[in-house]
Amino acid sequence: MAVVDFFSNSFITIDIGFRYIKIVQVKKSKNKSKLLSVVNYGIGDTPKGCIKNGAIKDKDAVVAEIARVLKDHNINAKEAKIVMSGTNIISRVIMIDKVPDSEVDKRIWEEIRETIPVDMNSNRIDYKLLGETMVDGKVKLKVFVTVVSKKIIDNYIDILNQLRLKPIAVDIPSNSVAKFFKLDIDIGQDNTARKLKFSKYNNNTWIVFDLGSETTIINILKDKTPEFNRVILKGSSRIDHEIVKELDLQPHEVQKAELYKKMYGLSTILTPCNEYLCSKAAMRVMDSIIKDIKMCIDFYLTRCNGEHPSKIFLIGGGSQMKGIEEYFEENLGLPAYKINVAKIGGLEFNQALDKDRLNYLVNALGVAL
Ligand SMILES: Nc1ncnc2c1ncn2[C@@H]1O[C@H](COP(=O)(O)OP(=O)(O)OP(=O)(O)O)[C@@H](O)[C@H]1O
Ligand SMILES: [Mg+2]
Repeated sequence: MAVVDFFSNSFITIDIGFRYIKIVQVKKSKNKSKLLSVVNYGIGDTPKGCIKNGAIKDKDAVVAEIARVLKDHNINAKEAKIVMSGTNIISRVIMIDKVPDSEVDKRIWEEIRETIPVDMNSNRIDYKLLGETMVDGKVKLKVFVTVVSKKIIDNYIDILNQLRLKPIAVDIPSNSVAKFFKLDIDIGQDNTARKLKFSKYNNNTWIVFDLGSETTIINILKDKTPEFNRVILKGSSRIDHEIVKELDLQPHEVQKAELYKKMYGLSTILTPCNEYLCSKAAMRVMDSIIKDIKMCIDFYLTRCNGEHPSKIFLIGGGSQMKGIEEYFEENLGLPAYKINVAKIGGLEFNQALDKDRLNYLVNALGVAL
């Protein structure tokens, strides 16, 4: 390796989930190839109960855990980017009448002030123009707006400062996910039977479904740009609690329930046994999440003037569950793909690293791009 490498830029990215902290050391080439190399990564345990309303409450405990992972994995970059928790971030699609280009910005801010009643000084508000759309025969401009409290942004910057890392970016999950999906995602060819089965929708609108421990984030990307984002306050750990109830376990046996969840997943076994009971509990939670996804699709179709998504990508630790793709396909009628099965152009892993945990790293990798 060169002593001084003018063509790359090395830094770390951090995604603090309710359950796990993902830390990735990357190298981004500055030349034309735009390749993102994962030099190293580590996954730590988030200290219990430390995220409240999107902010990190127990900063010292989180800083100590990040420092431990950095040391254990010999990660020693000086600069860092961090992804915020999805909770407490507002994202909305607004529509404005088509006006001359020079007036668009002014008109958008007027509409934001009218329809999103938040304090302009204590929040950071960003918008992205999504393009033109027809509503009731009239041309409208579609705009994606995000609102984040400045106090919460500072809270994440503090964490980096305490770690003596120079903050180079703080981002929100809808951006990090969209940036990751801008990479060249190749899921290969479906066989003819599957192509036929899922031929109803054929477009570039995708759902990216992030099943975390306490939250589920439903993103809709059109042509790789975020057009819809909703955070649901239920995640994979809810399945553990349902299993505890179903098997009549003691509350302290929730770890055992989690193991059962990982072991059995969404099994279609019909004979009454632990596998059957645990899957039944998992299905109860998944059914309620699938209902939420359907509501999000409806909202996107009617209120954001969107088109029906044609496929769903599964990311996050919870998306590792056995049988989840089949379950989604059966209940949503859309082809479902775990991100781990995709070939991803523009991203390479150091040979010694385990690529199978890619589903955990999507947000941390996205913020790097
Ligand atoms: N093989 C598996 N089957 C089912 N669930 C799994 C499997 N592996 C991990 N999980 C679940 O994934 C969850 C952790 O995922 P992840 O790291 O994405 O959450 P997080 O980012 O910490 O949480 P959040 O996104 O809600 O802040 C845990 O609930 C864990 O039980
Ligand atoms: Mg997460």
